[in-house]
Amino acid sequence: MSYPFPHIDPIPLPAPVGFFKFFLDLTLTLHFLFVHILVGGLVLAILWNWLGHLKKSPVQVAASGVALSRLPILMTYVINLGVPPLLFTQVLYGRALYTGSLLVGPYWFGIIFALMTGYFLLYHAGKLSTQGKAWWPWGILSLICIMYVGKIYSTVMTLMLTPEVWHGMYDVTARGTNFPPYDPTRTPRFLLMMAASLGFGGLAMALYATKQALKDEVKSYLRQAGGLGGLTGLLLLLAAGVWAFQSQPDFVRAALTGSSLFSTLLATWVVAVLASLIGALTLVKQPQRWTLARGVLTVAPPAVAVAAYVIIRDQVRDVTLGYKGFDVWQSTVNTNWLVVGLFLGSAVVGAAVLLWVLSVVCQARTVEENYE
Ligand code: HEM
Repeated sequence: MSYPFPHIDPIPLPAPVGFFKFFLDLTLTLHFLFVHILVGGLVLAILWNWLGHLKKSPVQVAASGVALSRLPILMTYVINLGVPPLLFTQVLYGRALYTGSLLVGPYWFGIIFALMTGYFLLYHAGKLSTQGKAWWPWGILSLICIMYVGKIYSTVMTLMLTPEVWHGMYDVTARGTNFPPYDPTRTPRFLLMMAASLGFGGLAMALYATKQALKDEVKSYLRQAGGLGGLTGLLLLLAAGVWAFQSQPDFVRAALTGSSLFSTLLATWVVAVLASLIGALTLVKQPQRWTLARGVLTVAPPAVAVAAYVIIRDQVRDVTLGYKGFDVWQSTVNTNWLVVGLFLGSAVVGAAVLLWVLSVVCQARTVEENYE
């Protein structure tokens, strides 16, 4: 097969590869954390709302409303924290990413409409929730739109690693409507993200309950049902992790198992997921009062687990692309320190604003007041 990647971009990278990689992994970790809380939180909120209306349980209905009320703001974080890694990925892997996304162009473009519709449906569900009406069917529709976005990202991120199928897909049609052929790594990779969402999303709901001024029954339900959802998701995550690794081609597994960085990252990931499991178990078993230390101890393991996964994922991409002739570390670099300085300055200001808005959101009391 001829060299499958488009020719090298004539413009050199304005900063070293490691610089872009650091920010790619950092912002992608944040993006994934918010994706997990959004998806996992929505799944649980839908379930509780459905059960609450089925069994006429005001506590379950109230808990679903509390969980739902925070999701629209979380979605803004998912989207805003998705943009930086998209830019860094394009800079580093543009030749593979652009080709992959163009080959499924209409589906990739459809992300914009799915995002807008999913967002609108979340707000609509929130409106019904404040009126005490059942909103779970609208929640399911919103979840479908949100999962569509995740599924297309998984598809494109997998397709960019398989240049051997690009020509075949283009030969079938140049319209981009042909879905990529079967790839054994695609489903486990997507399911790993979804299991992590149930795990970390459930944990987030349980932790959130400890901090809010809610009726005791609602608080206790959120803590226990959120924690149980989290436990289930984290067990599934461990299984999905094994499946995702085993589904990788032989050359990727051989390269990873021979790398001491991979062994360290894998051990870190397993320990952090187990520590998250213990955190969920603690929240389920006994009422917890919010303290900063408890918050940090519960949030740190998921953050470490997601960061380890992001770096492993990055290693898998580099090994796969390197094997197929695209070594990102060989990119031409011509560092422009003025641009680097401007970027770092604006990144610090942007991060400070994000943190400030997040702290305001955490203190805000809106729909929950109805449930006190
Ligand atoms: C509700 C909306 C979203 C969901 C559920 C979601 C979910 C996901 C998932 C599941 C992946 C992992 C793909 C894989 O490796 O299998 C992913 C990766 C990614 N997402 Fe999102 N995403 C959302 C919105 C966005 C938006 C709006 C952007 C950018 C504007 C974005 C940027 C990215 C990027 C850049 C990656 C991969 C980066 C890399 O591999 O280097 N996401 N997202």
